[in-house]
Amino acid sequence: MSASKKEYKRVTVKSLVEMKSLGEKISMLTAYDYTMAKIVDGAGIDVILVGDSASNVMAGHETTLPITLDQMIYHASSVVRAIERALVVVDLPFGTYQSDPKEALRSAIRIMKESGGHAVKLEGGKEIKDSIKKILNAGIPVMGHLGLTPQSIYKFGTYTVRAKEEEEALRLIEDAKLLERLGCFALVLEKIPAALAKQVAESISIPVIGIGAGGGVDGQVLVLHDMLGMTQEFHPRFLRRYMNLHEEMTTAISQYVDDVKSSEFPNKNEQY
Ligand code: KIV
Repeated sequence: MSASKKEYKRVTVKSLVEMKSLGEKISMLTAYDYTMAKIVDGAGIDVILVGDSASNVMAGHETTLPITLDQMIYHASSVVRAIERALVVVDLPFGTYQSDPKEALRSAIRIMKESGGHAVKLEGGKEIKDSIKKILNAGIPVMGHLGLTPQSIYKFGTYTVRAKEEEEALRLIEDAKLLERLGCFALVLEKIPAALAKQVAESISIPVIGIGAGGGVDGQVLVLHDMLGMTQEFHPRFLRRYMNLHEEMTTAISQYVDDVKSSEFPNKNEQY
């Protein structure tokens, strides 16, 4: 287990707010399945995000749009079965909360009931405020997500840095304050200038967790398969690769293929 300032046996939404007030940075990674979640949780992560990036990473889609609520529930329930300590936040997928607050609540309730996740994450600000309110009123914790919101990729057109212009930056600050007022327990800021992210983190009391948003925020999130170097196609500046698992796995699997072909595997000790 890695060191943290205060020991949390179980991380809750309250722990995250406390971490911010104590100046302890929050660690968050994605996971979509039992085996990976068990490793991530055992390594001492604070928050596991069952992200709709599963659409890209697990299913090979180009965007996050195709993943369904049933598929998110499948991934989230696998993760929940693995964890002992981390807070599990589950993305509400595209199309399950934007059209009507009642549908948003129904989707969030399905996630909570059928997966056992601890909170949901929604992309957007003012335009989805009624959905956020409705979910919060039912006692379900909500994490916001502003900046680059991949569910709106066809509106943006590209995955470039958001809120570089003053008008969009001011809108983002307003949205962050609104999410805090509504009662969200935390906020993800994706791919925006570091100075703006720092300004947002300093102007609200809920934790701000960044991805491509610099070091002035209250925590960091990365996609697990990217930071382990399992994926190769994706090279944004913000991504630090802690391993080259793609290379290590390829070497191991090639060795296995050779061993099977040459009858080197199994040997005498590996049989009954
Ligand atoms: O789906 C996801 O993985 C995310 C993170 C990039 C924050 O939303």
